[in-house]
Amino acid sequence: MKQILVTRRWPEKIEKELLKLGNVVFNPVDAPLSREDLCQALLTSDVLCSTVTDRIDSEMLASEKVKTRLIANFGVGYENIAVDMANRVGIAVTNTPGVLTDATAEIALTLLLMSARRAGEGERQLRMGEWMGWGPTHMLSTQVTGKKLGIIGMGRIGKAVAQRAHYGLGMEILYAGRTPNPLLAPEICAEMLPLEEVLKQSDFVTLHCPSTPQTYHLIDEAAFELMQPHAHLINTARGNVVNEKALVNAVESGEIAGAGLDVYENEPEVASGLIGLEQVVLLPHMGSGTVETREAMGFCALRNVEAFVTGQSLINPVTG
Ligand code: DGY
Repeated sequence: MKQILVTRRWPEKIEKELLKLGNVVFNPVDAPLSREDLCQALLTSDVLCSTVTDRIDSEMLASEKVKTRLIANFGVGYENIAVDMANRVGIAVTNTPGVLTDATAEIALTLLLMSARRAGEGERQLRMGEWMGWGPTHMLSTQVTGKKLGIIGMGRIGKAVAQRAHYGLGMEILYAGRTPNPLLAPEICAEMLPLEEVLKQSDFVTLHCPSTPQTYHLIDEAAFELMQPHAHLINTARGNVVNEKALVNAVESGEIAGAGLDVYENEPEVASGLIGLEQVVLLPHMGSGTVETREAMGFCALRNVEAFVTGQSLINPVTG
């Protein structure tokens, strides 16, 4: 029987299925394991079922004593794992692509609408008992329908956002990315432009690129200078794609109108300047957090563990 260690609690249905695949150890407290505990888990488990918040670096994988041969990550992003090192020392890594596209697109649009329509601010006002009733000029906001949406990163999630924004809200779509999406252009007239142009022309900019050395602080002081003063930035990708300090300055100085964030550079910490900004909507990394999606992610990870323990080819291997 293979030794399988799960670093966080997974949806119940998946945990039950996982129990059929080996000797499974769950983390009873559902809190992130310490680095020390993760190192120990690598020495004692054949399979490590990690999540996007477990940092597994090169140093942890380098020891000859590491027993783990599969790291099955519960998440589509896998920048938390030193995949190149894992592969070099013969450890396979898998992720859960495809299944969180719709949920993440929904949260991107939620943030976009909340930020444009001042929904967080309005709710706070009402809950604080400060709402004085309807008024012709009360808490005026920005209409979204028909505006230009700039999408940075036109992968699965970017495309899902583009379709919903175009069909649901009549938005015009501009995008920047590594490769043009040939299906998108005729379908919804999306135009691929250099990043600078997308930033300059868009009323809303939404990020859907992975976290890589190339996208680290992609949205920085220079990017905010290019954006329009009425523009909003939406980030459901990864926190470190945005320089949070530059974002705080950009909102405070009126360089942009607002932002909607689901991800942060040092989660669960949120840069202190952000908390005090009324124009910024802050969600606690819940893009994929629907029952349907978390179960689908769990099943995806489970299928990879199953393939590993039964000696089949992995379904979603990733390489560094
Ligand atoms: C992922 O899978 O990378 C997500 O960020 C988790 O919601």
